[in-house]
Amino acid sequence: MLKTILKEVKEFKLASILTPILMLLEVISELMIPLMMGLIIDKGINSSNLNAVFKYGSLMLICAFAALLFGGLSAHYGAYAAAGLAKNLRSTMFKKIQGFSFKNIDKFETSSLITRMMTDVTNTQHSYQMSLRMGVRAPFTFIIALFMTFSINKKLASIFLYAIIFLAISLLSMMYFARIAFKEAFERYDDLNSSIQENVSNIRVVKAYVKEKDETARFIKTTKKLYDAFVKAENITVLNSPIMMLTTNACIIALSWFGANMIVNKTLTTGELMSMFTYTMNILHSLMMVSFFFIMIIMSFASMKRISEIINETPSITNPKNPITEVKDGSISFKDVCFEYYDNTEDYVLYNINLDIKSGETIGIIGGTGSSKSTLVQLIPRLYDVSLGSIEVGGVDVRNYDLKILRDAVSMVLQKNTLFSGTIKDNLKWGNKNASDEEIIEAAKHAQAHDFIMSFKDGYDTHIEQGGTNVSGGQKQRLTIARALLKKPKILILDDSTSAVDTATDAHIRKAFREELPDITKLIISQRISSIIDADRIIVLDDGKINGIGTHEELLETNNIYQEVYETQYKGGDSHE
Ligand SMILES: Nc1ncnc2c1ncn2[C@@H]1O[C@H](COP(=O)(O)OP(=O)(O)OP(=O)(O)O)[C@@H](O)[C@H]1O
Ligand SMILES: [Mg+2]
Repeated sequence: MLKTILKEVKEFKLASILTPILMLLEVISELMIPLMMGLIIDKGINSSNLNAVFKYGSLMLICAFAALLFGGLSAHYGAYAAAGLAKNLRSTMFKKIQGFSFKNIDKFETSSLITRMMTDVTNTQHSYQMSLRMGVRAPFTFIIALFMTFSINKKLASIFLYAIIFLAISLLSMMYFARIAFKEAFERYDDLNSSIQENVSNIRVVKAYVKEKDETARFIKTTKKLYDAFVKAENITVLNSPIMMLTTNACIIALSWFGANMIVNKTLTTGELMSMFTYTMNILHSLMMVSFFFIMIIMSFASMKRISEIINETPSITNPKNPITEVKDGSISFKDVCFEYYDNTEDYVLYNINLDIKSGETIGIIGGTGSSKSTLVQLIPRLYDVSLGSIEVGGVDVRNYDLKILRDAVSMVLQKNTLFSGTIKDNLKWGNKNASDEEIIEAAKHAQAHDFIMSFKDGYDTHIEQGGTNVSGGQKQRLTIARALLKKPKILILDDSTSAVDTATDAHIRKAFREELPDITKLIISQRISSIIDADRIIVLDDGKINGIGTHEELLETNNIYQEVYETQYKGGDSHE
């Protein structure tokens, strides 16, 4: 896990090395100051030697400036390296997610992907910066200050040993409990994130159902849980300060007591005692820093684990070794295909599908909700891979094609489709970035979108909001069809893509397809018989199995399910076109 994270910091190796070195120099400069102070008192004030005061005073000033300079530089490089790590982590994760198959995406939920890319990366960034700085500063201050005190007076310095043992025990136990509490707090943070994400992205549904009050109550409950968890965690760490103060004061009293005795006995100078006092603060303070540092590191371990889970996830669908780069034609053939969403469960949602579709054929697919219509067609452009059997496009197993070539040849309008923020033209060009204006207009015309686009003030430059919220459902569907057509595919799959389009426009789209795009193999999924009535063949799916195949007339004679659907849709004089 650490290896995965550290790989991303390679680019900032120099800064990552400079930060602790500069920090070390800062600590050394800083720790010279108490020594100088002692010397000023002993060699200067106590011996009434102004020259010595001046000499050690200037040295002290130099040390202070050096500490400032090194400290500043170390902070700069530390921030630079940590921010760089965050940048690289985010781009690696983003790239990785782009390579995810639908199956990988099913595994991590969207909100969790977002939390991992935002909060977890920020946590890692902070803890990395802290490791480079505090992780170096605290132990070094501790060691150097302890060394200094021992070199001043061994006997007096032994007081620290008791203090250190006491502090270590109390800090360790505090750390243990704080870790548990913080871990819980961070889990609550996850809940909060997904709660915000879910609500905000579905705010329209919330409003439509007048659920604002309930949602707010639910949200307050989540924030309250987070609040409780943090209060609990902080309640443990607040003990840190009083324990520190208690130990420091006890040390100072002991030092004063024994030190004063030593001064009277002439085994210690006043200046040395003064330096001892300052080092006391340094030593105990660095111990406290170490404890905090450990809490932070332990907490960020959880974040790092979640990040490396994404980076180390193997995409379930990848390009083959020697990919085929040409799709000969738009024929499709399913051979004994079975499919399950979860590996090795034998919970097949598609069972034993055998099907041959000729290039240029128009195929209608109908069946109840959950009958696996979407699942069936998603296997063709390899959005999912078959569990058993195989699918061929243009006579070649889809798994042997270059993915981009295959998905360009098999253009699919997903059932849950969306538009991106940008102009209408940007959105259409998304299908094919090299498309000319004429091609864009042609595709829009075939999808019956040109007229309504032109009715907008800005035409093809009309701005689309994120998710396509400022166009109607039917308009959005026609734009997504035009986008799919721009790829100039050999196979076009429309998954319930005209459900929000009125029947007359729907008929125009089909007419355009038939007359203008006769070579493209078309698979049209619909709940409406009118949308598939003139298809060359219609497939009736039932519970993941093919229940019947034939023309409208044939199915009307032989297929029970089809007859039922027909009767419910056409009873009451609603004649078809
Ligand atoms: N991503 C998924 N993970 C797990 N199960 C899924 C997933 N998508 C669909 N399923 C399940 O697979 C079955 C077939 O779903 P599918 O979406 O193919 O049906 P459909 O015929 O397209 O339905 P609809 O007409 O409502 O679009 C359903 O039982 C569904 O619960
Ligand atoms: Mg579906």
